[in-house]
Parts: sequence; structure tokens; C-alpha cells
Amino acid sequence: MQAFTNVRLLTARLELRPLSLGDAEHLLGIYSDPEFMRYWSSKPWTHIDQAIALIENDRRELAAGEHLRLGVYLRDQGWLIGTCSLFNLNEGCRRAEVGYGIARTHWRRGYMVEAVSAVISFAFSELRLHRLEADIDPRNEGSARGLERLGFIREGLLRERWIVGEEVSDSALYGLLDHERSPAAHLR
Ligand SMILES: CC(C)(COP(=O)(O)OP(=O)(O)OC[C@H]1O[C@@H](n2cnc3c(N)ncnc32)[C@H](O)[C@@H]1OP(=O)(O)O)[C@@H](O)C(=O)NCCC(=O)NCCS
Repeated sequence: MQAFTNVRLLTARLELRPLSLGDAEHLLGIYSDPEFMRYWSSKPWTHIDQAIALIENDRRELAAGEHLRLGVYLRDQGWLIGTCSLFNLNEGCRRAEVGYGIARTHWRRGYMVEAVSAVISFAFSELRLHRLEADIDPRNEGSARGLERLGFIREGLLRERWIVGEEVSDSALYGLLDHERSPAAHLR
């Protein structure tokens, strides 16, 4: 896969670009929120070192084209409000998984759909992927609704697939094929 270090995506309200070390405090603010992390695959963060480690690891994986994680920034204020990712890239099968999170203070303003829509276009148009997948907790209504809004189809349920701390949870699997996507799905 190509290097992702210079990827920069623009939407009407957002800029998506790789995180830098200057974002560590803001990232910790987002990922330490228990409500934000309610359906995440790990526990809420507790220390700035976790943010620094993620950003430094991203730098290596972006350069290797292994994992694309982009910070989601408000274009007018420059604030970091979340992240959006393509991971588990499989070049042979031309598929990848999408991940996303928006800070709680910015929920329900259409930012997830706007950010993920840009990543979907990049994945299908620039990377020539064929299929995108998402693995979500079926109780995560905002995530499910956003994926449906983007044209993803719920394809199945895997029982008790995650154990985070004491909590066991199911996975709802969603898929989107390149020929199914509607470029204006997020504008409906
Ligand atoms: C899931 C998440 C990314 C949604 O982000 P968002 O920016 O609030 O989503 P949007 O504003 O783009 O909304 C997308 C759709 O979901 C709906 N929605 C959002 N949150 C919702 C909720 N809590 N319950 C029901 N519907 C919800 C919106 O109304 C919208 O649907 P509509 O266009 O029909 O009105 C956000 O809640 C989040 O970051 N949660 C924590 C991290 C997380 O769980 N990430 C996903 C892991 S799989």
C-alpha cells in the first residue's frame, strides 16, 4: 500500500489529516471520556503517554501504508474533534475496515457522516478498494445509524466477540461495496 503520511482530506466543515504530537492533550481529552469509550474496543485512557504512543505508532504505520488514522479537525477553528481510520487493509482482496469517533461535545451535528464519507471516497477512488467493513457494538445506535446513512448494509451478528474489562459484547458487522456507494449518501 502507498504511504499515507501526506494524506489530507477536506470536506465542507472538516479537515482530516494525520495527528501530530501537539494533539496529544486533546486526544487524551477525547479518549479518556467514559461515554465516548462506552462501545470502544479498549478502556478509557488515563495517561498522556497513551496519546503520545498512539501518535508515534501512527507515524510508523502511516509511512508503511499499514494503517490510516486521520485526526478530524474543524476547518474554521482548527480544533481536533475526533479521529477516522482505515485499518486491517487487505491489498489482495482490496478491503479494509473503517473506524471513527467524534468528541461528545460535537455529537449529532453530522460530523461522523461527513468525515467517514471523505474516507470512503478516498478508499474507493484513491486506493481502489472494493469493500469496506465496520464492526460495531449493536447497542451503539449512533454508529449504526451513521453507517446506514452512509450506505453500509448490516451483514451479520457475531456473538460475544469482544471482552473489554468485565464486559462481553457482540459485534454487528456492516459492509459497503464500491459499486453500491452513493456519492451523495451523506446529503440525504
Ligand atoms: C458514533 C459516533 C461516531 C456518531 O458521531 P456523530 O458525529 O454524532 O454522528 P452524526 O451526527 O454524523 O449522526 C449520524 C446519524 O446517527 C444519528 N445519531 C447520532 N448519535 C445517535 C444516538 N446516540 N442515538 C441515535 N441516533 C444517533 C444521527 O441523528 C444521524 O442520523 P440522521 O442523519 O438520520 O439524523 C459518536 O457517537 C461517537 O464518536 N461515539 C463514541 C465513539 C464510538 O462509539 N465510535 C464508533 C465505534 S464503532
